[in-house]
Amino acid sequence: MGNIAALKDKNVLTGNKKPLFLASTLVVTVAVFMYYFYIPPGVDIGPEQPIPFSHRLHAGIKEVQCRFCHPYVSRSISAGIPPVGKCLYCHNFIITKHPQIVTVHRYFNNKTPISWVKVNYLPEHVLFNHQRHIKKEIACRQCHGAVETMDRIKKKQFEMGFCVACHREKKANLDCWLACHS
Ligand code: HEC
Ligand code: HEC
Ligand code: HEC
Ligand code: HEC
Repeated sequence: MGNIAALKDKNVLTGNKKPLFLASTLVVTVAVFMYYFYIPPGVDIGPEQPIPFSHRLHAGIKEVQCRFCHPYVSRSISAGIPPVGKCLYCHNFIITKHPQIVTVHRYFNNKTPISWVKVNYLPEHVLFNHQRHIKKEIACRQCHGAVETMDRIKKKQFEMGFCVACHREKKANLDCWLACHS
């Protein structure tokens, strides 16, 4: 008798567990689907650029200095993006038959600038000056992260808290309304 009762209990249990199992499988499947649907795996890298230019290759593996391509960073307010001609310093000689480099040459010959997608944003009323920071020997990576490890640079929205935290630490100007806002 005791055995039958135990069996009945078991039946009751498995009977209850099956729908539970199915339901949780469904939930997991839907969650995985939604994850890939709304957050495609490529979202963690920067936007696609007209030429797949890689900082990881150029600044990382080939160790080209940031300032070779962004020379104005220590001289002016903005760092600037290199003109097409800058690419040809090297690509007049290196992998000239590579399809992407052929495209680079076409831009140059047609005198059209490459329309790079801008990734760094500051709210419009914020004044930012590279020169002041570079003169104080603040490394690019303190604000831009490890660019030399990125194929595509990620979008970045600079928040005021980020600026203020370092200004406080370095005892730089904290009078934001005078210094950083127009
Ligand atoms: C200081 C030299 C130098 C400059 C300047 C330079 N490159 Fe390169 N680039 C290289 C080298 C070296 C390679 C690797 C070549 C190889 O794979 O043998 C390369 C490779 C590439 C590739 C091929 C990547 C791949 O996946 O095969 C592309 C595309 C490219 N560069 C685009 C550019 C663009 C656009 C610019 C200008 C903004 C530029 N490069 C400026 C040196 C340079
Ligand atoms: C061979 C040339 C080259 C070198 C070297 C290089 N860059 Fe660039 N950089 C570019 C080009 C071209 C773009 C525009 C395309 C892009 O965003 O990838 C760019 C874009 C950027 C941007 C994004 C600008 C924006 O707001 O859209 C940052 C930040 C940057 N570079 C930082 C660096 C740093 C830091 C280094 C050194 C570790 C470096 N770069 C080295 C050519 C170069
Ligand atoms: C104190 C923080 C800070 C440091 C240090 C810094 N940057 Fe920037 N950088 C910024 C901010 C903020 C922006 C966005 C400003 C804007 O859009 O005007 C920016 C934008 C850029 C851009 C895009 C410029 C353009 O014309 O679109 C490039 C390229 C760049 N930085 C390169 C560099 C390089 C190379 C270094 C190091 C030599 C460097 N930055 C150091 C904060 C910094
Ligand atoms: C990693 C540290 C660091 C970060 C991050 C940083 N700053 Fe600075 N900033 C400094 C230092 C240090 C100075 C002082 C430079 C000097 O004395 O010439 C300075 C100076 C300035 C000045 C000039 C102030 C004056 O006295 O006139 C402005 C404007 C400024 N920063 C704006 C910004 C903005 C906007 C951001 C955020 C996008 C930012 N900074 C992020 C370190 C930083």
